[in-house]
Amino acid sequence: MIIAVDGPAASGKGTIARALAKRYGLPHLDTGLLYRAVAATVLREELDPEKEADAVAACDFPDSLLDDPWLRTDDVGKVASVVSAHPLVRASLLQRQRRFAGQPGGAVLDGRDIGTVIAPDADVKLFVKATPAIRARRRHDELRRNGANVSYDRVLADIRARDERDSRRADAPMRQADDAALLDTSFLSIDAAVQRAVELVEARKAAQ
Ligand code: DC
Repeated sequence: MIIAVDGPAASGKGTIARALAKRYGLPHLDTGLLYRAVAATVLREELDPEKEADAVAACDFPDSLLDDPWLRTDDVGKVASVVSAHPLVRASLLQRQRRFAGQPGGAVLDGRDIGTVIAPDADVKLFVKATPAIRARRRHDELRRNGANVSYDRVLADIRARDERDSRRADAPMRQADDAALLDTSFLSIDAAVQRAVELVEARKAAQ
């Protein structure tokens, strides 16, 4: 069974994808981490994320980089959104994601274009969303817990800018696949969101 989980930043898609992988005993790939690794390499080597050739040169990162906690910071996330708009960067990361999706027994992948481009034949597709204000609140709370001193308004502006870039790019923009089930987590606790995701997976399985 291949499960595709797409949605914007702080929608809860990563938490839901991890929970589904555990529940169904499937391997999980957070595809955003691949774009974050490209971004981190661009930053470390002082390349220009807006230049496609620079970003492509950074696609050759070592696997060990994927474990670096720095990748999960907002600074790297922002640059990941920039490098991910380059078609040659997306092409360079495509096979790796398709191979992961195609392993025997299946997999869970989360990202922006899993249901539309990476695994268009996935057995189950979820599109996870929440309002920008609620996603900014979640992200702001998380940053404050980790000791960062950043305003809510700043976090909200960043979230809006990232949504805009990820959904307006020409190549594989973030969008709900026509056959994806929509899961709005705006007013759901984490547990309730995961439970709803399991119900949606079960409903899709039963319909097949
Ligand atoms: O999910 P995330 O915040 O880790 O993703 C970081 C950026 O990577 C996101 O802003 C856009 C890009 N991305 C993408 O273009 N396609 C994916 N499948 C996953 C992430």
